[in-house]
Amino acid sequence: MKTYIVGNWKLNFTVGEASIYLHKLLKTLPNYRDLEIVVAPSTLALQPLSLQVDRHKIKLAAQNGFYRDTGAYTGETSFAQLRGLVNYAIIGHSERRYVLHENDKEIAKKVAAAIRNHITPILCIGEIESERAFGETKDVIRDQLIGGLSEVSDDELAKVIIAYEPVWAISSAKSAKLASPDEIAEVVDLIRKTLSETYGAKAAEGVPVLFGGSVNPSNAGAYLTVPGVNGLLIGASSLILSEFVDIIEVAKRVRA
Ligand code: 13P
Repeated sequence: MKTYIVGNWKLNFTVGEASIYLHKLLKTLPNYRDLEIVVAPSTLALQPLSLQVDRHKIKLAAQNGFYRDTGAYTGETSFAQLRGLVNYAIIGHSERRYVLHENDKEIAKKVAAAIRNHITPILCIGEIESERAFGETKDVIRDQLIGGLSEVSDDELAKVIIAYEPVWAISSAKSAKLASPDEIAEVVDLIRKTLSETYGAKAAEGVPVLFGGSVNPSNAGAYLTVPGVNGLLIGASSLILSEFVDIIEVAKRVRA
């Protein structure tokens, strides 16, 4: 399986800034065969960046999309419109769940809409600090996973990526703490077990599971060697080009 290095730019960079970043990144990177390097710019930047990107080196992801393809949905952008512009879409990010109140039902419809439009969903799941403190992590992870995948058939599971992002470990959290490799390993194992119960062991093994939460060049190596982790979803550190490139270098060394 490839190793995924995904930069989530969130609500940062103008279209011009995003284009300059991409230009520099393309110039810096060789074509890594075993690494899948992905950036997720704002929706507005996807059209121009899709014309600029060299997809042999870097793929684009949307940060969101709407579950209906067309219709009277003011302000939304559908996966049907994103089709051809992006290869991936981040769906169910904790900022959308907790700031924008998206629920598992909507997230499941978005996952289905992405697949229907030939876009690989990166389904984000993760517990908040109090859920971990009350021993609810397992239930939350299972609920979000089963809920988010409720419209995904056996055949479609191979088209899905899961990202485990403990919300308390995301750098923008008030008192963000680093997740330990053991804490991550335990949840990643639970994710695979849950997938295995629903879709069978073989299918579960083939699903890439990424980790996200304050990843930077100094901890990327440790996180990439957690058993079952197939890549990283990076926020703040991906905004600094040199750090994103350093993380890619670390991934190359770890996977060599
Ligand atoms: P940070 O890397 O800034 O903690 O963000 C993680 C994240 O939310 C990526 O989707």
